[in-house]
Amino acid sequence: MPRRLTGFTPSGDLHLGNHIGAIGPIISGQTTDDTVVFISDLHALTLEHDPAQVRRRTLEFAGLLLAAGADPDACLFLVQSHVPEHTELHYLLECATGFGEAQRMIQFKEKSSRQGPVRLSLLTYPVLMAADILLYDTTEVPVGDDQSQHVELARDVARRFNARYGPTFTLPRAVNPPVAARLMDLASPGSKMSKSAASPAGTLRLLDEPGVLRRKIMRAVTDGGTEVVYEPEHHPGVSNLLTILAACTGDRPERLAARFTGYGELKEAVADAVITTLAPVRERYRELDPDHVRRVLRVGAERARELAAPKVRQAREAIGLLPR
Ligand code: TYM
Repeated sequence: MPRRLTGFTPSGDLHLGNHIGAIGPIISGQTTDDTVVFISDLHALTLEHDPAQVRRRTLEFAGLLLAAGADPDACLFLVQSHVPEHTELHYLLECATGFGEAQRMIQFKEKSSRQGPVRLSLLTYPVLMAADILLYDTTEVPVGDDQSQHVELARDVARRFNARYGPTFTLPRAVNPPVAARLMDLASPGSKMSKSAASPAGTLRLLDEPGVLRRKIMRAVTDGGTEVVYEPEHHPGVSNLLTILAACTGDRPERLAARFTGYGELKEAVADAVITTLAPVRERYRELDPDHVRRVLRVGAERARELAAPKVRQAREAIGLLPR
């Protein structure tokens, strides 16, 4: 049976890109496939962070994932740092990963080139991600395309570890959504929609009120001209709107383009579709009791440890550590 796993880093506000790239895909398979959904709080420590914010967001992310449909009876639902096997395996995998390999990661290059001191954990971040994935014998990792390179690294590390120390890990592969694997920012469609955007104007947040979502969409940057065409290279703004509409309605952006004669009409349709997708999540989130969320996370961590502990034991022995 395939096992699918994906994680969310509580380093900003969850947005439509996260929803379409990973939340929707992981939740839709939870009743048919073995599924692991987690909040990667340790990853939020790799950049400048406020401890109280990380704690608050970890609980908020857990609530939003439950509100979006994650069912803790159907999937394994946990916070990464509650399962110390993630960090233990991280170290063992560091011993099977090259320094140059980690340095070649595009996200590392991008994030480390920004101003300010670079934390060592930013370099080793993809190795922790490999541990997250390999710990549970994951076969498929639903992610947006910005994370695909990290999943490739996990696959390479698993293959190398198995070759050197004997068969230990299952080889995972990234699975991108068919449309909107990289949703772009509404205000600057040359950049991806991101939790850490300088301005919130182009980010459709899961917790934005419907009026705010509509306003952001109506103000979205469009391209010169008036034609509604799907050509991401030449018309990135309009193409992004078509992509959003396609992702929210299960259609194809090329087909949708033919239905609209002007930008205003297209934007109204996008706003309706986004509100229909996100408003119920926000409403369910508002009704959740944080104590219930905490209880769910406690049970999830216990169940996860039962699964993770034997895998770490196997990796420890394979790599040469003396059993206790
Ligand atoms: P994170 O928290 O940045 O993003 C969560 C998921 O959302 C996807 N995503 C997008 N998809 C489409 N368009 C966008 N604009 C967009 N922005 C983000 C991401 O690709 C991701 O799937 N390192 C990971 C979390 C993680 C993880 C893991 C994921 C930790 N361990 C193991 C998978 C497996 C991250 O920070 O994602």
